[in-house]
Amino acid sequence: MGELKSIGVLTSGGDAPGMNATLRAVVRTGIYYGYKMLGIHKGYDGLMHGDIEEMSLRSVGDIIQRGGTILQTARSAEFATDAGMEKAMNIANVYEMDSLVVIGGDGSYRGAKDLAARGMNVIGLPGTIDNDISCTEYTIGYDTAMNTVLDAIDKIRDTSYSHERCSVLEVMGRKAGWIAINCGIAGGAEAVVLPENPFDIDQDIIKPIIDGRNRGKKHYLVILAEGVGGAVEIAKYIEEKTDIVTRATILGYIQRGGSPSLMDRVMGSRMGAFAVETLRAGRSNRIIAVQGGKIVDLDITEALNMKKGMDMELVELSRILAM
Ligand code: F6P
Repeated sequence: MGELKSIGVLTSGGDAPGMNATLRAVVRTGIYYGYKMLGIHKGYDGLMHGDIEEMSLRSVGDIIQRGGTILQTARSAEFATDAGMEKAMNIANVYEMDSLVVIGGDGSYRGAKDLAARGMNVIGLPGTIDNDISCTEYTIGYDTAMNTVLDAIDKIRDTSYSHERCSVLEVMGRKAGWIAINCGIAGGAEAVVLPENPFDIDQDIIKPIIDGRNRGKKHYLVILAEGVGGAVEIAKYIEEKTDIVTRATILGYIQRGGSPSLMDRVMGSRMGAFAVETLRAGRSNRIIAVQGGKIVDLDITEALNMKKGMDMELVELSRILAM
């Protein structure tokens, strides 16, 4: 890796609370060490089209508490083509950008890896509410999203109790059930339905509800991961089978917004600074991850090949405590 002078930073894929705190840490740590810091707007689209501004200490002022991403984000189909990639590299050369920090998920790292193959020094930072990046135990935005879901659960419980109803709540997570399982435990759900765990609707949803009713329960909560989907149909089935009035709520994009939690601000700050320290130490083409509670950097190809399974102890815990 040659001498490091200028670092670009972008946010890519779905936005996540804490991306701004992460960006602030990248920019301020970079400036602290004397690098020129370039903010790229709208993800890889902005890189291809030169939507780039030099960042100062002040351009990341007053953003640590803001949700979303001040740089904005995009999912770019053009960037996935050879022509798009060439365009991005040409713009990077015009701006004399030797390194690029990408805050996003797995899909964003694949683009980063392709840029690395063309000579860019890249670093990936895990930013997504889904916690579905295999190489890391934690992703920036996950904690805030779970707290948003928990707040919604508590509100739904109020009305569910008042009307003695059952509620089916569908939460985000793409193909992963991390938000669902943790919020199911924290929200006291009767059943949690996950894409990672094959389920039988009669055994895993209807039975716990009926058993609960027989033990004196008066209202019920089913958490459904979006990777399974079908909240409305499942609610209808529950109502038919149990005679309990059942309503479906699909929580949707509210889970992506809002002021980041303390955890997301601190993790974003620590990981953002770590990204610049990694480049400064001469290591590039790395993904910043949390492993065993520690922040580490991993080879991008190895990181992309890792697998992360659902924690079945959490699944079992949610089942036991649902009684
Ligand atoms: O990755 C974050 C996420 O919100 C997922 O939970 C969801 O499946 C997806 O993004 C929705 O993507 P879009 O913003 O393209 O609708």
